[in-house]
Amino acid sequence: MLRKTVFLLVLVAQVLMLENGLLRTPPMGWLAWERFRCNINCDQDPKNCISERLFMEMADRLAQDGWRDLGYVYLNIDDCWIGGRDSKGRLVPDPKRFPHGIAFLADYAHSLGLKLGIYEDMGKMTCMGYPGTTLDKIELDAGTFAEWKVDMLKLDGCFSTSKERAVGYPKMAAALNATGRPIAFSCSWPAYEGGLPPKVNYTLIANICNLWRNFDDIQDSWRSVLSIVDWFVKYQDILQPVAGPGHWNDPDMLLIGNYGLSFEESRAQMALWTVLAAPLFMSTDLRTISPQNIDILQNPLMIKINQDRLGIQGRRIFKSKSQIEVFKRHLSNGASALVYFSRRTDMPYHFHCSLLELNYPKSRVYEGQNVFTGDVISGLKSESNFTVIINPSGVVMWYLYPIKNQGFSKQMSQL
Ligand SMILES: *[C@@H]1O[C@H](CO)[C@@H](O)[C@H](O)[C@H]1NC(C)=O
Ligand SMILES: *[C@@H]1O[C@H](CO)[C@@H](O)[C@H](O)[C@H]1NC(C)=O
Ligand SMILES: *[C@@H]1O[C@H](CO)[C@@H](O)[C@H](O)[C@H]1NC(C)=O
Repeated sequence: MLRKTVFLLVLVAQVLMLENGLLRTPPMGWLAWERFRCNINCDQDPKNCISERLFMEMADRLAQDGWRDLGYVYLNIDDCWIGGRDSKGRLVPDPKRFPHGIAFLADYAHSLGLKLGIYEDMGKMTCMGYPGTTLDKIELDAGTFAEWKVDMLKLDGCFSTSKERAVGYPKMAAALNATGRPIAFSCSWPAYEGGLPPKVNYTLIANICNLWRNFDDIQDSWRSVLSIVDWFVKYQDILQPVAGPGHWNDPDMLLIGNYGLSFEESRAQMALWTVLAAPLFMSTDLRTISPQNIDILQNPLMIKINQDRLGIQGRRIFKSKSQIEVFKRHLSNGASALVYFSRRTDMPYHFHCSLLELNYPKSRVYEGQNVFTGDVISGLKSESNFTVIINPSGVVMWYLYPIKNQGFSKQMSQL
């Protein structure tokens, strides 16, 4: 018994710092789950069922419609792809829905300049009841994924105990590392432990996972988005410091392009996920998405902010009685992003503020851009009062940077 414990401690100590060098900025791409769930009915719904056809068609769209070139490179499979295990215990995909196998899909993705992500579950079964990765199968499954040339693994946590997860997630990180193939590791572990210390040790998680789900699955509704935002804000003192290059909090997929969000709400989710330095995983039908939604998701300045190399997660810094909230994210070169978010349900609200009130330093001058309208902001002094008009459940988003010429800014502030 003592020997076993010692062995376990050595194992845990060994896997604490598995820096795989991946995801220096939040991952961007497409993940099947939110929109396509566990639709395995290929007879009646061949276009939309979880199958190699769906992933190949999304790969084509990612490559041809500008997504890949903006950074949306991950094509990620979620639950319901597994057919079983072969005589040697190795995972095999459903032969009818993935007739050419996962290695073929990975090759296809790579040929288009994309990366392939796959899904498994630390436990007896996946959440939808397919064969899971039990503790004894971890090395085998990691080896299979590497052999298939997979680039990311999302490891869910259904049908396991807390104890099994505490051993299994670090063990999978070590097993992925041992394959020698760089495979980004997405852990659902914290979400299964309530997402908070003391049950969750984010220092440990950040050492072994590239991203992790902290909280509930997103559903196709504004209410779901708000519940996630509320939770991330409530615990921002815990969550904000643990994110950084190579290790990200994941508030779950973007709903943009689906059924639950209005135009304003879609912009709000995009802006809030961006200031939170969140992974940008779309989960919508890229074959039929509207130009309006493409504009939201393909906004170059938005993506530049999300992908800022410092990787500092933003925080809510201000909340007014008038139901306006302000989020701020620090960016490289002294720049910053501000999101003015309205929780109102009446009409566009005229919000009066100054940068000084938003904790910007005194006597500086800023310029920048309104991220959605492209309107230029220039000569904005810290002390100046300004008004932004924010639509109900909408946002106004600014990108700001201090004017370099200090002499000039000094002059301006004396005016
Ligand atoms: C495995 O971990 C070591 C130590 O952190 C690291 O140098 C190496 O790049 C990792 N390899 C892979 C394939 O993740
Ligand atoms: C959390 O994990 C880190 C890294 O493994 C460890 O050094 C630290 O002691 C742990 N903290 C707690 C409170 O257990
Ligand atoms: C800005 O507005 C505040 C009240 O909200 C006022 O006290 C202050 O004098 C104004 N500053 C300028 C420069 O107009």
